[in-house]
Amino acid sequence: MEVIGIEDGYHGVIHNRYRKLEFDDVSGILTLGGTILGTSKTANPYRYAVKKGKKLEFKDMSATAVENINKLDIDCLVCIGGDGTLNIAHHLFKDGILIVGVPKTIDNDLRGTDITFGFDSAVYIATWGIDRIHSTAQSHHRVMIVEVMGHNAGWIALHSGIAGGGDIILMPEIPYDAEIISEKVRERSRKGKRFSIVVVAEGAKPKGGDIVIQRIVKESSDPIRLGGIGFVLGEQIEKMTGIETRTVVMGHLQRGGTPTPFDRVLATRLGSKAVDMVASKKCGYMVGVKGDSLAEVPLEEVAKGPRTVPLGHPLIEDARGLGTCFGD
Ligand code: F6P
Repeated sequence: MEVIGIEDGYHGVIHNRYRKLEFDDVSGILTLGGTILGTSKTANPYRYAVKKGKKLEFKDMSATAVENINKLDIDCLVCIGGDGTLNIAHHLFKDGILIVGVPKTIDNDLRGTDITFGFDSAVYIATWGIDRIHSTAQSHHRVMIVEVMGHNAGWIALHSGIAGGGDIILMPEIPYDAEIISEKVRERSRKGKRFSIVVVAEGAKPKGGDIVIQRIVKESSDPIRLGGIGFVLGEQIEKMTGIETRTVVMGHLQRGGTPTPFDRVLATRLGSKAVDMVASKKCGYMVGVKGDSLAEVPLEEVAKGPRTVPLGHPLIEDARGLGTCFGD
């Protein structure tokens, strides 16, 4: 097989930026985070942002994208990414491009797969952060809030919260009540635990309230960047409990550095299966993980929207059984 690497995701497709990839280009990248080809969170061929002076206009560049891909005379376009990337991939497939999808996002919020690669590494870093926060929380008798990523899904908060021994875990799927959180903190104090660790997903919101937006990226087809809920909540808890409360935002630390062994193995399995699918011309599918096996999942299924944490998820029940508060 000959492999062509497209630079900066769909930007490269629209602007014809690509290079041939040889064995030497990929040899040794197993231990790296990020991507050697670059990526883009703003380039959607169906809604491509173009600056006209100070104004931003959106153009449908999909015909150019399809033409450029066809000119490359490739047998298959392998799209690696999260829900944004694979949604666009589904549209391109409907427009006649042969596509195989590979699930990669720290958020773990893709339909059609139990897990995405990147998630385990993000959970590892978030847990690492929570572990270190314990020292200050315990020594200084504080409430420490750790805000983690995950977009509109609570997978990272749930897993790192349990792994890091969070006393309170807040996720977008379970709107919280600040009074219930404060009561949990007070109850711990009464029992002699003079500190509490709160793990909050960036997309968490109070009952009847809204998410906290950090910035709007106008060029992006999903323009909302979340962040800051930890600070809002911190002020509330401090006021309600009288206990000093501090917030740490894990942010992009979760998306960087060397991947965990689990993610390296998962990426290898998914990549290998994707190559088999290309060879057998099984296009219009994403390779997904179902239990111990790999599955071919129609892109149509993947494009149905993000996969959030189901309310009856066994991990939530297990954590509740151990006394973890979910703010509800
Ligand atoms: O989708 C991955 C992710 O890291 C989300 O968890 C987060 O909401 C978002 O991307 C952050 O995006 P950016 O790097 O543009 O701030």
